[in-house]
Order: sequence, then C-alpha cells, then structure tokens
Amino acid sequence: MNAVAAVLPIRLGVNVDHVATVRNARGGALPDPVRAALLAVSAGADGITAHLREDRRHIRDDDMRRLKAELSVPLNFETAATEEMVAIALDIAPHACCLVPERREERTTEGGLDVIAGGAALAHKVGALGRTGIRVSLFVAPDPRQIAASAGIGAAVVELHTGTWCEALAAGHRVEADAELGRLRAAATQAASLGLEVHAGHGLDFASAETISAFGEVRELNIGHFLIGEAIFEGLETSIRRMREAMARGRAALRTGAVV
Ligand code: PXP
Repeated sequence: MNAVAAVLPIRLGVNVDHVATVRNARGGALPDPVRAALLAVSAGADGITAHLREDRRHIRDDDMRRLKAELSVPLNFETAATEEMVAIALDIAPHACCLVPERREERTTEGGLDVIAGGAALAHKVGALGRTGIRVSLFVAPDPRQIAASAGIGAAVVELHTGTWCEALAAGHRVEADAELGRLRAAATQAASLGLEVHAGHGLDFASAETISAFGEVRELNIGHFLIGEAIFEGLETSIRRMREAMARGRAALRTGAVV
C-alpha cells in the first residue's frame, strides 16, 4: 500500500447502547438514547449505531424506530443473524445492518461471526437485507477465511473485531497485541482487495482508534463503551470531539507516510 496515495476519510459511528443500559437499570425513560444520539451527531458523529439484542437488555425495538425516525445521519442497526431480528431490520429499513454473533450469557459481543458455518442460511439473510438497499456488514475476526467467506456471500462491508487487540493492549501483552494488530492490518488489506468496505470496532479508546485510523482501508469506526464512559467525566460532546481528533491524527500519519 502506498501511504501517500489518496487518503479517504474515516467516519465515526457512535454506539448509544449504554445510554439505554443506564436507563434500563432504573426503569423509566431516562436517560434517553435518542437524545444522546442527536447530541452525538451535533458533536460530530457521522452515524449512530445501536444493537438490538435478543434479550433487549439495552436498546429496545421502540428505540430503534425512534432513532430511524429522528436521525438525519445513517443508522447502523446491529443485531444477531436470526429470522426475528432480520425481519425487524427489514421493517425498520436502517441505512446499514451489522450482523453479529450473539449469546445471551455474554456481557458483550465476544468473537466474530462464523460466516463459514453460517452457510446458505446466512447468505440468504445477507441477500434479503441487501436487496432492499440496506448495506450489510458482517462483524468478523481478522481471519482470512472469514473475510473471503464474507465476500463470497455478497456482504458489502466487513467490520473487523478489534476486541482481542484492545484487550491485549489493556493487559500490557505487547507481543500478542502486535501480532493481532498485524492480523487486523492483513485483514483490512485483504477485505479491501475483495471489494469489501472495511469498518472496525470493539473496545476502542483514543489511542487504539488513532492507530486503527492510520489504516487507509478502514472507512468507519464504531465506538460505544469508551465514549459513553468518558462522557461521565468529560461530557459526550467533548469525548466525541477528542475521538475525532484522535482519528484525524491517525489519518494525518497515513497522509504523511509516518505509519510504520
Ligand atoms: N461494533 C460491533 C459490531 C459491536 O458489537 C460493538 C459492541 O456493541 C461495537 C462495535 C462497539 O464496541 P464498544 O462498545 O466496545 O466500543
């Protein structure tokens, strides 16, 4: 890859799930994830992501409908690849639908989707969503077989799971972190060469988002937990502004060829 070739912009999708987590902890209507989404947009988010889980532990069906109705930016509907969820996504008609693996007992999305095991049933869902104009994204580990399978079943986008890398960084496991970053880099290159748009997300903070933003193939980051956590201390607008600055630094390093 030529580091000084045309550098395409990178978008920030803000995930508002954990505003709903706080709301649901108390019951009632506050804090409202739709209000947070509108504030995020005014602070510089390019899109909003929300995950309708099968157990509705945070975002609920009505939140998703309100987000679709009130947002002027793309809505990325994240969900499990089940018949029920695909039917809801088709009904709401978001800009994008990111299919993720989901287990009820997990705390967050652990691991990527097994696109190979998903086979014809997954391909059918990708086709059904894609035919209505929804951009279908598959949330995958940086595994070359999963990337190839994603292209093979007609997904428009792969979102690379950055969670393993971010966990290794947080634990101070430098060797593992660097190895996983290498896999992410190779996966981004492979996916782009197959015509897939490349997104990334899970566990990102300012520093890791800056690093990933220096991958020219990555066109969008989806970030939730860290930004909502920072918002407690700094406010949502400041945390989003600082994230945009981190991403801009990553892109600037790519532009000047400073990326190693
Ligand atoms: N992308 C996907 C597909 C996810 O499942 C999640 C978590 O819901 C995120 C991005 C955001 O991860 P985090 O909340 O750790 O920033």
